[in-house]
Amino acid sequence: MKKILITLNCLFLFFNFLMAQVTVTNLLTENQVNPVSIDIVQPRFSWQLKGGKRNIQQTAFEIKVLQKNTAVWSSGKVASAQSVLLPYAGTALQSGRQYSWQVKVWDNNGKASLWSTAAFFKMGMLNAADWKAKWLEAGFAEDSINRPAQYFRKPFGVNKKIQSAYAYITAHGMYEAQINGKRVGDYYLTPGWTSYNNRLQYQVYDVTSLLKNGANAVGVVAANGWYRGYLAWNDNKNIYGKKLAILFQMEIEYTDGTTQTITSDESWKSATGPIRYAEIYNGEIYDARQEKNGWSNAMYNDNNWSSVKTVAADKAVLVATYNEPIKKQEIFKPVKILKTPKGELVADFGQNLTGWATLKIKGKTGDTINLFHTEVLDKAGNFYTDNLRAAKQQNTFILKGGDEEFFEPHFTFQGFRYIKIEGLTGELKTENISAVALYSAMPPTGTFTSSNALINQLQHNIQWGQRGNFLDVPTDCPQRDERLGWTGDAQVFSRTATFNFGVNNFFAKWMKDVALDQQPNGSVPFVVPNVLGPNAGGSAGWADAATIIPWNVYLAYGDKQILIDQYSSMKAWVGYMEKASKNNLWNTGFHFGDWLFYRPFDDNDGRSAVTDKYLIAQCFFAYSTQILFNTATVLGKTADAEYYKNLLQKIKTAFVNEYVTPYGNLVSGTQTAYVLALHFDMLPEVLQKNAAEKLVTNIKNYGDHLTTGFLGTPYLCHVLSRFGYTGVAYKLLLQETYPSWLYPVKMGATTIWERWDGIKPDSTFQVPSMNSFNHYSYGAIGDWMYRVMAGLDTDESEPGYKHIIIKPHVGGGFKNAAATLQTYYGTASSGWKIITDKILFDVEIPPNTTATIYLPAKATEAITENGTALSAIKDISITGSAEGYVILKVGSGKYNFEVKQ
Ligand code: BGC
Repeated sequence: MKKILITLNCLFLFFNFLMAQVTVTNLLTENQVNPVSIDIVQPRFSWQLKGGKRNIQQTAFEIKVLQKNTAVWSSGKVASAQSVLLPYAGTALQSGRQYSWQVKVWDNNGKASLWSTAAFFKMGMLNAADWKAKWLEAGFAEDSINRPAQYFRKPFGVNKKIQSAYAYITAHGMYEAQINGKRVGDYYLTPGWTSYNNRLQYQVYDVTSLLKNGANAVGVVAANGWYRGYLAWNDNKNIYGKKLAILFQMEIEYTDGTTQTITSDESWKSATGPIRYAEIYNGEIYDARQEKNGWSNAMYNDNNWSSVKTVAADKAVLVATYNEPIKKQEIFKPVKILKTPKGELVADFGQNLTGWATLKIKGKTGDTINLFHTEVLDKAGNFYTDNLRAAKQQNTFILKGGDEEFFEPHFTFQGFRYIKIEGLTGELKTENISAVALYSAMPPTGTFTSSNALINQLQHNIQWGQRGNFLDVPTDCPQRDERLGWTGDAQVFSRTATFNFGVNNFFAKWMKDVALDQQPNGSVPFVVPNVLGPNAGGSAGWADAATIIPWNVYLAYGDKQILIDQYSSMKAWVGYMEKASKNNLWNTGFHFGDWLFYRPFDDNDGRSAVTDKYLIAQCFFAYSTQILFNTATVLGKTADAEYYKNLLQKIKTAFVNEYVTPYGNLVSGTQTAYVLALHFDMLPEVLQKNAAEKLVTNIKNYGDHLTTGFLGTPYLCHVLSRFGYTGVAYKLLLQETYPSWLYPVKMGATTIWERWDGIKPDSTFQVPSMNSFNHYSYGAIGDWMYRVMAGLDTDESEPGYKHIIIKPHVGGGFKNAAATLQTYYGTASSGWKIITDKILFDVEIPPNTTATIYLPAKATEAITENGTALSAIKDISITGSAEGYVILKVGSGKYNFEVKQ
């Protein structure tokens, strides 16, 4: 008995020791899990601490990096609480080499963790000279009308046991590759879209498992894509070049340590195949009768294929892919197959998405099936495509006949909820067709739930709007002949975007193209990559993406690198406004203004919420200068900080002189005018209260409706809650009639609409020339739902949620609301639930972070945590009360508060 007790006691002590010991997990290199192509010479490491107890803090870390079994860097024990974005500081990393790394930490009890499991990263091509491969163009004259996809192939031998094999691929055009008949990787629409003349991404694939001893073959097919396909309007094609080309290099390492490089060169062959036509807007024609079975297998006979041409192209523009690739995501089956009043055979997938439809079918040789894609059916229930403008969104499949055939496109994408099928002889069954969502494989990070089903649908629509438009670049819409990287839309939505998905790398990649397509005079284009010409830029609210997005990404992830990388571009944009302004007043040039503000039909008495475009410009001039001051401060650029601080004051003074009447009213009495003036602190404090009252009065005058467009909408509720009108903000959020966030939800939306009334109350449509049903700009309300309603936010002085602010705003008649966020430190969450006379607040703070929690309570005594009075809990410090909140400071852990009402 005594022996058993001693053993149990030892086990208990050991278990406690284990529980007490922190562990290290989720190792990331440049925010990615085991990336295979890094071309950053000092990649940065991040990790998370895990452990049962509360208030876990890291006090020191040690990192070791190995190449095979050779140490290339050891940080030694470093006294530091930093566990996110630690730069490598060892000997120079080599192109194409794979490295592994591990980390151990010490916690605030001085206890050391065990070494983490190893993570790895592989370097990309660090020098243009690393590329032995040659750019290849097809050796045949192409059909210049349809411009069918071009196939390239090369057989090669492998005669020893393989250790590893990696393929480096890119193209002028879009490409897909196969080795021995198998698809290489699961990325789509590669190489993605960048400012190709300046930067072209290549992708790296581990193809070890695709190779076999003996005869092998590789095949690459290329099509128009963004490189030479139709983009924007006016028959605009060949924007980056006229000829498709591919670049392929495979590095094989054998177990005996020798290596072999297979490259694209003169020995390759080229031909066309089943993809007879492929355009992003118009779709694809796939003729199965022209398939070349086995074209990427070694034994395939390519005698009647053409040769290739090698062409010179600057390899210095080649960069490793930094953002997440586009992947196939959710698959939808039809929720309904119907015949429209016009007799059209239509499948409804129940969700408006971006991607394509796949078809499984059996038929005769030459049977031609057309799939048309659209977002909505019209009032009568017929297939409606007017809002697609010139984009056909049509995929055509021509059967070879015999067994069942499976069709899906390759080099296009559609924005749709419904498809119309023509040419089908038999019956259409749900098992025949699916809808495949395609979007950048950003890690999902945020959830928001509440007791209101309509609001939950709104959140759903916001997230699907982001999924539908984060396709390697943030597009305005996925369906019509546009789908461009509109800067204004991206900036207004950027903060919300950082909640829903991990978009650090997504924006870091795109912002580089913003800087590259920026004009020498500092003007920032309307769209990036810029396909609208050098003069299409410089609009307030759009160009400010150059400052606002880097700042929002810095706040959300604590990643200074984007500020460092974008600093000169940010300065150039503010410099442009300075040069364009007179006496610090910027009132020149073209501006979109508060795009798609509320404008009633046949507005005879001036109900349209038209805000002076130069008033708006002056506000963004100030906000971008404010962000530049903040950035210069964060980067320790004191002289610049001083300069921009002074400039900011002058801009605000000029604003007041030009746009504020002696009684403190703005020359434009719109909601957007007051929202921007208050959110960007354009007004002296004495005038702010009056301005906020003016805003609230305006909202009442419109029957508790918003009237804001793209630029006023993101900040409307933030301004209302900041100035004590959270109740009014909730009223607007819960408003169900047009204009409001919930009106489209009530009208059946499954994404965010471009217009407040894309479908009017009488079920007719807004003007087809600009009426997308998948535009995320108005989804910027998501940010307020996370940060104010649920109250989950980061402290700007310790960004990236190193210090978290929990400040929920209970109200609006909601019974509960909750937000969770996967931060780089781990899960953070804030939720509240009203139960009779008390409110429960559940909070989770990840290890190695701290938080300030604001609980709406009259007194500390009204609060208990897990049933214990606050005063009796050691690891919660009560720091005061303000604005009806009791303020607490806590470390990591889960907290369950109960506040008596
Ligand atoms: C785009 C918007 C953009 C706007 C600016 C529209 O065509 O779809 O996303 O912000 O133009 O004018």
